[in-house]
Amino acid sequence: MSAHRTRLIAALDTASYDQALQWATALDGIVDAIKLGLEFTYACGLDAVKALGNRQDLFLDLKLHDIPNTVSSGLRALTPIKPRLMTIHALGGAEMISRSRATLEDAFDNDEKRPKLLAVTVLTSMNEQSLNEIGINATPLDEVVRLGRMAIRAGADGLVCSAHEITALRDALGDGPELVVPGIRPAGSNTDDQKRIMTPAQAAQAGADWIVVGRPITRADDPAAAAQAIQNELQAVTRCR
Ligand code: C5P
Repeated sequence: MSAHRTRLIAALDTASYDQALQWATALDGIVDAIKLGLEFTYACGLDAVKALGNRQDLFLDLKLHDIPNTVSSGLRALTPIKPRLMTIHALGGAEMISRSRATLEDAFDNDEKRPKLLAVTVLTSMNEQSLNEIGINATPLDEVVRLGRMAIRAGADGLVCSAHEITALRDALGDGPELVVPGIRPAGSNTDDQKRIMTPAQAAQAGADWIVVGRPITRADDPAAAAQAIQNELQAVTRCR
């Protein structure tokens, strides 16, 4: 068992390169990584993603979902950006996941530098009724655990999950998978549209490897101070695993 620190990712959700650069500059050396997603990537392009990714560790959250060949080729095309973490949808199936992992291993001989492949299981915007509507007759939590088990077996390094799913996933899958957890709100901050939230310390205590925090940092008067306060909260929680 070793001491394990939960790391902080700032989600830079914007379509403006200047805005993202301003946040990234302010947060440099304070957060452990930045997250860029569909909005920034489609609006600003991959050169802009690469420019920001060259400055800081990058979570490139594009949630790919297509046939195995298309997803693994898409991931290969993204490898020059050298993200630390990348996402695909578990619902694409075991072959899509294993081909994706093989492609990343092939593109990076150094396993330390290989981007970690994360699977998204059930989107937190879905409830039992919306799962039923797409033919899945299970509760969101049961489906998260089922898809999570399949994804890790197929080669995903970890999962994106809600803080409320961490305990069930750790019980089912142990300490190995990297769990990356959005939907985090420091005590007393605005919940925005997030419904089932946890504080940074609660998520760390539950077993998150990384937490993803967007608006509580980017909409703060002083984003650097907001991020530093979250880091201080995380540093007070040291788990053993
Ligand atoms: O601003 P906020 O902290 O809510 O941002 C959280 C980030 O994590 C956003 O980029 C959002 O898209 C992402 N996310 C999420 N819930 C998920 C998966 C991703 O909030 N289940």
